[in-house]
Amino acid sequence: MPQAGSPAPTRPYGALAPYFARVYPADGVAPWFHRALALAGAWGVRGGALLDVGAGTCRFSRFWARHGFRTVCLDRSLPMLRAARLGPEAGRLHRVAGTLDCLRERPRFDVVTAIDDVVNYLGAEHGSLVRFLDSAARLLAPTGLLLFDFLTPEARTWYDLDATRSTGEVRVRSRGAFDAVSHLLEVTYEVVTRTGTSRERHRLRLFTPAEVEAGLRRAGFRTRILTRLLGHPPGPAEPAYDVLASLEASPSKAGRLRRVLAAGGAEA
Ligand SMILES: C[S@@+](CC[C@H](N)C(=O)[O-])C[C@H]1O[C@@H](n2cnc3c(N)ncnc32)[C@H](O)[C@@H]1O
Repeated sequence: MPQAGSPAPTRPYGALAPYFARVYPADGVAPWFHRALALAGAWGVRGGALLDVGAGTCRFSRFWARHGFRTVCLDRSLPMLRAARLGPEAGRLHRVAGTLDCLRERPRFDVVTAIDDVVNYLGAEHGSLVRFLDSAARLLAPTGLLLFDFLTPEARTWYDLDATRSTGEVRVRSRGAFDAVSHLLEVTYEVVTRTGTSRERHRLRLFTPAEVEAGLRRAGFRTRILTRLLGHPPGPAEPAYDVLASLEASPSKAGRLRRVLAAGGAEA
């Protein structure tokens, strides 16, 4: 049975890295990005410095760089960062192989993002969200915006069966095993190419909305909105949420965020 804080399975993304961008292409995330950009604007952030934690192949961060944000892409997987195929935005985007502990405290970032289950990975490493949220609070400008998503225990069924995604040259299957006590999900990926089959195991800690809300409050985030950036307004037992948070408490800015969310069919 997996235990939080015990050693992670070996080399997540080692086999997946060369194929990740083809199996999960960047075009698919454009609608999400444009909603996120509108929300950042509603919060008053229209440019500046952005940190993308767990940036992978820069699938999301390339959009921020294209829209003028000076972007730092942090990932502990060098193969993932190397596999990023970038266009002209490459000059405004800096890739750093490492973890949050590698970053200096100054200058602070106007936006910090961690997208596509990244905090679930961080939570499995550390046993909770405390390290991630404390680091985010330390690195974010006082009026900046933190934006991340997370999977809840409802998402365990997303991995209960074999899920297959394929492009012409690679087939990726994943299978998950969820431990209801520790809330750890171990996902085994099988990457099948013409030259052979590789396997790797990933470990994610799934969080309830109440755990995330309490973690944000404890780390000093005075604005906290749990929502879905795309799709229907969130209910009480969603498999995934997006989080908008700031160290600043501003009812007028929070009101603007809620209006933008409601206009797009999501609510906080
Ligand atoms: C599902 S991928 C998401 C990548 C990217 N955000 C995207 O949506 O395309 C999760 C990423 O988190 C990275 N990651 C996991 N734990 C990390 C850590 N402690 N520090 C930095 N990156 C981490 C992995 O290497 C991987 O690239």
